[in-house]
Amino acid sequence: MSKIRIAVIGAGSISDVHLNAYKNNKETEIAAICDVNEERARQKAQAYGAGKAYADYRQVLADPDIDAVSVCTWNNSHAEISIASLRAGKHVLCEKPLCKTVEEALAVEAAAKESGKTLQVGYVRRFGMNAQVLKQFVDAGDLGEIYYAKASCLRRLGNPGGWFADTERSGGGPLIDLGVHVIDIAWYMMGKPKVKSVTGNTYKRLGNRGNIRHLSYYKAADTGGPNTVEDMANALIRFENGASLFVDVSFALHAQEDHISVKLYGDRGGAELEPKLAMATEKHDTMLNIHPQIDALTFDFANGFQNEIDHFIDCCQGRAETICPVEDGVEMMKMLSAIYESGARGAEIRL
Ligand SMILES: NC(=O)c1ccc[n+]([C@@H]2O[C@H](COP(=O)([O-])OP(=O)(O)OC[C@H]3O[C@@H](n4cnc5c(N)ncnc54)[C@H](O)[C@@H]3O)[C@@H](O)[C@H]2O)c1
Repeated sequence: MSKIRIAVIGAGSISDVHLNAYKNNKETEIAAICDVNEERARQKAQAYGAGKAYADYRQVLADPDIDAVSVCTWNNSHAEISIASLRAGKHVLCEKPLCKTVEEALAVEAAAKESGKTLQVGYVRRFGMNAQVLKQFVDAGDLGEIYYAKASCLRRLGNPGGWFADTERSGGGPLIDLGVHVIDIAWYMMGKPKVKSVTGNTYKRLGNRGNIRHLSYYKAADTGGPNTVEDMANALIRFENGASLFVDVSFALHAQEDHISVKLYGDRGGAELEPKLAMATEKHDTMLNIHPQIDALTFDFANGFQNEIDHFIDCCQGRAETICPVEDGVEMMKMLSAIYESGARGAEIRL
C-alpha cells in the first residue's frame, strides 16, 4: 500500500497530538502543515519533517500530493474547510465538534456523501481502550437495554481562553467543547438512539475566573479577547426509545476538584466508563461488581489518539469504514443546538 500523504490544518495545541500519532503510523507521510499563523506552520513543519508549510488551507487543497487532512482549526472553520477538502478529493479527519450549527453539519454531510471520501469526526473517546472494551460487553448484550446514562465533565478552572471563550469562533463554551465528548461516548454506548426532546440550562455566573492564581490549566495557542461563552451547562436529553441522558459540564465552578464521569445503566447490567471502567450486574441472586484487568481503565490521551488516527488511515486505505461517521456529527449538533436553545428560551425543545 502506498503511504497516505497528510496535511494538518491548524497548527495549535492539539495538532501535536495528531502529528505524533501520524508520525507513528507507518503508512503515513506528514506532507504539509497549514496555519493562518505562517510562522507557526513553518516551525511545526520543521519539527515534524513536513516538506511544505502553507498559510491558506486552499493551498493544501490545490496540492495534488496531499491525500488527506486533519482539521485542527477553530470550530468556526471546521465546516468550511471540511467541505472544501472533500470537494477537492481529500479524506478528512475533523476535530470535534464537527462544526457550530445543524445547518453546517448537514452541509458537511451532503459534501461527504457526494465526494465518497471519508469524513471522520474526532470522537477520540470512542478509541480509548476502556471504551473499546466496554463496547464489546455492550454489543454482546451484557448490559441489556441501557435506559439511563449520566455524563459529567466539570472543570472548576478550565476556560482555555482565546477563541474557546469567543462564541463567534467556538460556537459555545464547555457544552460544545467538553459536553461533545461525554455526550457522544454515552450516546454511542446507548446504541445511538434518536433524540426526542431536550431540556437544558446554561449559566454565565463565574466568567473565566481569570483572577485565580497558583493553578495551571489548558490554554489555547493564542489567549486574550472577550469571554462570551457559558461557564456551566446541564441538560436532560430524552430519546425516542424511552432512554434518557443527564449531562453537566463546566469551565468554571465552585467545586472541590475537577470531575469526569460517564455512567450507563441497563436492565441487565451497569457500567462506569469514567473515571475508571467498572461494571455491575447480578448472578445467582447476588450482586457483582466487575473490575476488568486492562492497561488503561481510564481514557489514555496518547493511546486514544493513536487508535483514532490509525483507524482514519485504515479508512483512507479503503480497509475500513469509519466508526465516527458524519451522521454522528449531525446528531450531536442537533443535541447541542437544542440544549443551547432550551437554555435561552427556558423551555423544553422537541426535535
Ligand atoms: N479531541 C480533543 O480532545 C481535543 C482537545 C483539544 C482541542 N480539540 C479541538 O481541536 C481544535 C483546535 O484546538 P486547539 O486547542 O489546538 O486550538 P489552538 O488555538 O491551540 O490552535 C488552533 C490553531 O488553528 C489556527 N487556525 C484557526 N483558523 C484557521 C484557518 N482557517 N486556517 C488555518 N489555521 C487556522 C490558529 O491560528 C491556531 O494555530 C478545536 O476544534 C478543538 O475543539 C480537540
